[in-house]
Amino acid sequence: MNSVPKKAFIFDLDGVIVDTAKYHYLAWKKIADALQINFTHEHNELLKGVSRIRSLDIILELGNITATVEQKNQWLAQKNADYLSYLVDMDSSELLPGVLETLQFLKEKNQAIVLGSASKNARPILEKTGIIDLFDAVVDGNDVTNAKPDPEVFLIGAQKVNIIPENAIVFEDAVAGIQAANAAQMISVGIGKAEILNEAHYVFTDFNEMGLAFIEKLIK
Ligand code: BG6
Ligand code: MG
Repeated sequence: MNSVPKKAFIFDLDGVIVDTAKYHYLAWKKIADALQINFTHEHNELLKGVSRIRSLDIILELGNITATVEQKNQWLAQKNADYLSYLVDMDSSELLPGVLETLQFLKEKNQAIVLGSASKNARPILEKTGIIDLFDAVVDGNDVTNAKPDPEVFLIGAQKVNIIPENAIVFEDAVAGIQAANAAQMISVGIGKAEILNEAHYVFTDFNEMGLAFIEKLIK
């Protein structure tokens, strides 16, 4: 019998499993350029982990632009169509370093694997990259009403696999996502730059740097 207590390992998608943050940026940049709004990589940090509609509002605020609901819906549709065009040829080669090894290791160790993403495009991305079957639960932008930094997405994720928040670990690349994990009373692990993700309990540049020994420690 396996006596190791099961924990929930909750993965954000964009910027943690796949490097789609760059595609979100490119698609938003096109809209911003057309509206003559100065939109830099630094501004883009504000959009990470944030819902599609909130992202548009942030960009419009940067340019001091107000718009009707119809106009906003048109930009949202345009952004998503453009974003999806970058995903057409996506396959497992776009998984970020160490992600597959980490997922497989957690599976071997009989831990619960959960997706907790703000994206409404999460499922097709997990399918295209061939990892959807490794997940015990998927919670995405279609399932939540409150966006990160609200903890809702992670709390629903842990609940789906019957694990209490204290036994859940969240991997996140976004400041809003780290705040959401902390608000959920979970262990937050930042994937990215320590100076940006300074509210996380731990930060690594990627899963290779983190290593499986660290995961093993979290399981115990
Ligand atoms: C998050 C991304 O994962 O999903 C955000 O970090 C994005 O940049 C959000 O806006 C919503 O994604 P989508 O695919 O529903 O537009
Ligand atoms: Mg992310």
